[in-house]
Amino acid sequence: MSQLNKLHFPYAAVVVTGGSSGIGKSFIKHIKNVNSDVPLCNLSRRVPEGFSDELKRRGVTVDLSDVASRAKAIEAVLAFLDEVDCNGPILLINNAGFGSYGEFHRGEAALQREIIEVNLNAIIDLTAGLMPILLKRGGMVMNVASITAFQPTPYIATYGATKAFLLHWGYSLRHELRDTSVSVMTVCPGSTETPFHDRAGMNVKGPTSKFAQTPDQVAHEALIALAKGKAHVVTGWSNKVMTKLATILPWGLVTRMSGAVLAHLRR
Ligand SMILES: NC(=O)c1ccc[n+]([C@@H]2O[C@H](COP(=O)([O-])OP(=O)(O)OC[C@H]3O[C@@H](n4cnc5c(N)ncnc54)[C@H](OP(=O)(O)O)[C@@H]3O)[C@@H](O)[C@H]2O)c1
Repeated sequence: MSQLNKLHFPYAAVVVTGGSSGIGKSFIKHIKNVNSDVPLCNLSRRVPEGFSDELKRRGVTVDLSDVASRAKAIEAVLAFLDEVDCNGPILLINNAGFGSYGEFHRGEAALQREIIEVNLNAIIDLTAGLMPILLKRGGMVMNVASITAFQPTPYIATYGATKAFLLHWGYSLRHELRDTSVSVMTVCPGSTETPFHDRAGMNVKGPTSKFAQTPDQVAHEALIALAKGKAHVVTGWSNKVMTKLATILPWGLVTRMSGAVLAHLRR
């Protein structure tokens, strides 16, 4: 925490998705510690503790898998940013996401589409919806991807691919926006102790749990990388090693290795 307190946090308002749990909740906690006064707007189905209709802590209830619900939520965020009496830069943290464990050919296409709605389409809509005000005031889009962005991920194939999209997309947008006051960064956590695995139907006692980080560690590393202007950050040393290996080894081998590890996460 101490390292964070010393860092410059130039944002005049923060919009975060998925702050009701896990990594998103930790982002809110750390940001409040860095600047207790900064207006925060959260989007999730459950309203986080301490959030309501108030300006400083605005809780917007939304189902991000639903196009109409998130369109209303974007309007609510724009109203919030309008009400916030500031002209400074905005930090948008696209953190909400979920996965589901199992072979694609045994599952339901509807669930795969729901993953794509929350993990990708909601991020595209929210980022596009806020882009005019971001361009006007300046700011940062921080997308929470995963180490699954670096490798094929059998048994969580769709989930892993959504995160690969975010990593590539983030780098491309950052390049396109390089002459503006808006930038993009991507956060790539590995296994993190949150309700994520339970919801995904995964066994958290698998081999990867030995290297799991806490959500506080992930949010802390991400905010430090943000202050340093990084384009992406892989949190945790073991995740850094794994992702480096995945980029060097042949894809066939990487897929077999990743498949072997993920097979152990079956319940
Ligand atoms: N935990 C890990 O091991 C891990 C590793 C790498 C990356 N990540 C990524 O980190 C991000 C945060 O996950 P987490 O681990 O903190 O999981 P989590 O504790 O389950 O939190 C997920 C958050 O997303 C929100 N959310 C999910 N579906 C939603 C929907 N349809 N509409 C609105 N909000 C929705 C949830 O809010 P409500 O339930 O209140 O709607 C919750 O606040 C995700 O993008 C995940 O892919 C996690």
